[in-house]
Amino acid sequence: MAKILIIYYSETGNTKKMAELIAEGIKEEKVDVVIKNVEDTQAKELLEYDGIIIGSPTYYGLPAYQIKKLLDESVAFHGSLEGKIGGAFSSSANIGGGNETTIMAILQAMLIHGMVVKGNSKGDHYGPVSIGKPDSRVERQSKAYGRMIAQLVKKLK
Ligand SMILES: Cc1cc2nc3c(=O)[nH]c(=O)nc-3n(C[C@H](O)[C@H](O)[C@H](O)COP(=O)(O)O)c2cc1C
Repeated sequence: MAKILIIYYSETGNTKKMAELIAEGIKEEKVDVVIKNVEDTQAKELLEYDGIIIGSPTYYGLPAYQIKKLLDESVAFHGSLEGKIGGAFSSSANIGGGNETTIMAILQAMLIHGMVVKGNSKGDHYGPVSIGKPDSRVERQSKAYGRMIAQLVKKLK
């Protein structure tokens, strides 16, 4: 059975809530999903999943250092994540506050790992974004993103 790991960092709960909403979408597609705080996640766990989705608050237009630390530690498994599905999401305080550059920083690392990253022609193009606390728009986007990534994982697995 296909398995997806959602990793997040969150200080005030916004990014964590997005992780939970994405997981709901994944479950609708009958794909197994595990949500983990990045501080409880070891890089070797990435090997166990078909899909990896990483979320971070936007800190100065970039992921929180806790996320970067995990990405840097993943070098120990460079080459082994090839072909896994990747995705990213972010919460920021402001529109134009750098949430898309935060997502792109995570997706760049995934591409360097040889992972498969999917865009979205209809909704949030790079991955779900929330301005502050997730509202009904973010809820729709996040669930749809979960379904989309789960469908791709099933197709490619
Ligand atoms: C150190 C720090 C840097 C931040 N930098 C930005 C920023 O560049 N742009 C922005 O819109 N919000 C910025 N924020 C606000 C957070 O991205 C925002 O509050 C986010 O929703 C927090 O997510 P969380 O609830 O998951 O911790 C920053 C917050 C902190 C603490």
